[in-house]
Amino acid sequence: MTLFRLDASIRAEGSASREIADIVEAEWVAAHPGDRIERRHIGVDVLPASAWAHAVAAGQVPPPDRSPEQAAALALAATLAGELLSADAVLLAVPLYNFGVSQHMKTWIDLVIAAPRASGASQPLLAGKRAVLATVRGGAYGAGTPREGWDHSTAYLRRIIADVWGADLTVVEREFTLVGVNPALDAFTGLAAEMHAAALDAAREAGRAFSLASLAGA
Ligand SMILES: Cc1cc2nc3c(=O)[nH]c(=O)nc-3n(C[C@H](O)[C@H](O)[C@H](O)COP(=O)(O)O)c2cc1C
Repeated sequence: MTLFRLDASIRAEGSASREIADIVEAEWVAAHPGDRIERRHIGVDVLPASAWAHAVAAGQVPPPDRSPEQAAALALAATLAGELLSADAVLLAVPLYNFGVSQHMKTWIDLVIAAPRASGASQPLLAGKRAVLATVRGGAYGAGTPREGWDHSTAYLRRIIADVWGADLTVVEREFTLVGVNPALDAFTGLAAEMHAAALDAAREAGRAFSLASLAGA
C-alpha cells in the first residue's frame, strides 16, 4: 500500500506539524512495514505560483495549440493529482499562516483541482480513502478567545479534503506552538504544554486508527 505525505511548513527543522505527522507516519510504518511512502514538501520544494493560471488556461486550448508553459502546468497538475489517486491513504501536515493557508498550500490545492480527470471519473478524488490532517497554529483560536473565528485554514482544509475530495478525514490539531518562542505568550506555558501532549496523544491514536483501517480496506 502507498501512503502519500504532504508537508506545507516552510521549515524542515523544529516544525510542530511535522512532529505530529511523523508520529502518524510511524504508526503507518508499524502497520505497513516496507510499504511505499510518497512525499512532497511544498513549503520547501515550492510549486511555481504561475502554474495554476497556465493549467486553467490550458484546459481551454486544444493540446497541439498549448504553449510550453500551459503544457508544463497541466502536466504538473496531473502529477499532483496522480500522487493522490495512486495513494491508499493520505497524510497532510499544514500550519496556519497569516490566518489562512499559505500560498504554497493554495497553489497545490488549485493545481490538483485543475488537473484533468480521466473521462468517466465520477467519484471524488479521495473517495473511500482515509486522510489525516495535522494542523498547527502559533496562537489559540478556541471558543471565547479573542481570536475565535480568525483561523481561516482548518475549516477550508476540511471542506476541500473531506467534502470536495471525499476523504474520510481525521484532523489532529495543536495550538500555541509559539509559546516559548514569543515572550508575550509566556503566561500560557502550562496550557501550551498540555496542548502539546494532547496533540501527540491524538496523533498516535489517529495514526493507529488510520493505519489499521487502511490495512482492513475500510
Ligand atoms: C509567516 C508566518 C505567519 C504566521 N501566521 C500565523 C497566524 O496567522 N496565526 C497563528 O496562530 N500562527 C501563525 N504563525 C505561527 C505558525 O502557525 C506556527 O509557528 C506553526 O508552528 C508553524 O508550523 P511548523 O511548526 O510546522 O513550522 C505564523 C508563522 C509564520 C512563520
